[in-house]
Amino acid sequence: MNEEGKVAFITGANRGLGFETARELGEKGITVILGSRDKAKGEAAAEKLKAKGITAIAFPFDINQFSDHQAIYKYIETHFGKLDILVNNAGIWLESKDIHGANQTSAISQEVLRKTFDANFFNLVALTQTLLPLLKKASAGRIVNLSSILGSLTLHSDPSSPIYDFKAFAYNASKTALNAFTVHLAHELKGTKIKVNSAHPGWVKTDMGGEAAPMEVSEGGKTSAQLALLLENGPTGQFIHLGEALPW
Ligand SMILES: NC(=O)c1ccc[n+]([C@@H]2O[C@H](COP(=O)([O-])OP(=O)(O)OC[C@H]3O[C@@H](n4cnc5c(N)ncnc54)[C@H](OP(=O)(O)O)[C@@H]3O)[C@@H](O)[C@H]2O)c1
Repeated sequence: MNEEGKVAFITGANRGLGFETARELGEKGITVILGSRDKAKGEAAAEKLKAKGITAIAFPFDINQFSDHQAIYKYIETHFGKLDILVNNAGIWLESKDIHGANQTSAISQEVLRKTFDANFFNLVALTQTLLPLLKKASAGRIVNLSSILGSLTLHSDPSSPIYDFKAFAYNASKTALNAFTVHLAHELKGTKIKVNSAHPGWVKTDMGGEAAPMEVSEGGKTSAQLALLLENGPTGQFIHLGEALPW
């Protein structure tokens, strides 16, 4: 499929999975706009992609700043008139990384809970609402929500599941809420050409995933890229890792 002429906006694209997803989409000929909180880091990331022949644009973007939501809407509307792909990739983990068997749910602070939900859920929903009119103007809009297997309530309530003892409440619950957004928005948009899916990238060696993660970053962008490039007969309202559906 020829992807030339498409434009994608990826949040948190200066490093980690966001950068990798931008690389994968850019190599297909898609113009990639890299959201980055830090202008210089975003520009450095865009330069790396340009060196590979990719059309990459750095855009200063903090998911928690609504003025940035308006600015990216204006930029895309002015320069492209539509948005083909939104990858809601930016995310935070504020709890201890050492969570195996260390369940701190009863002691979670309101501050950690609210900050995590602001970035991973509330402000992601707000951004998506802002950009939806531009996605509706594309011939086949795709929204990819970076969730996590840790958002799966089915697996969290199954003692035999590999994630059963990984109870980082704020992070996990924010991804469960994000999964609910995926299901609800996909239902609302089911009569349109837009597809909305949740991605579990795998446990990947990024700053968030840490050194113990089994997957390399070079593999980590695959699920997001696949969902961004879904054909018309592809799924919507699903929770997917490398082409396989995960339980909610
Ligand atoms: N790595 C894994 O194993 C794994 C597994 C499952 C799901 N995920 C999900 O995949 C996504 C990407 O994860 P990652 O591993 O690449 O994480 P990462 O290495 O920590 O990178 C996170 C990215 O998000 C950006 N970001 C953080 N707060 C932001 C804000 N307020 N506004 C805009 N951007 C912000 C960061 O920008 P700065 O550089 O400015 O901090 C960075 O670009 C996240 O949603 C994560 O929950 C990751």
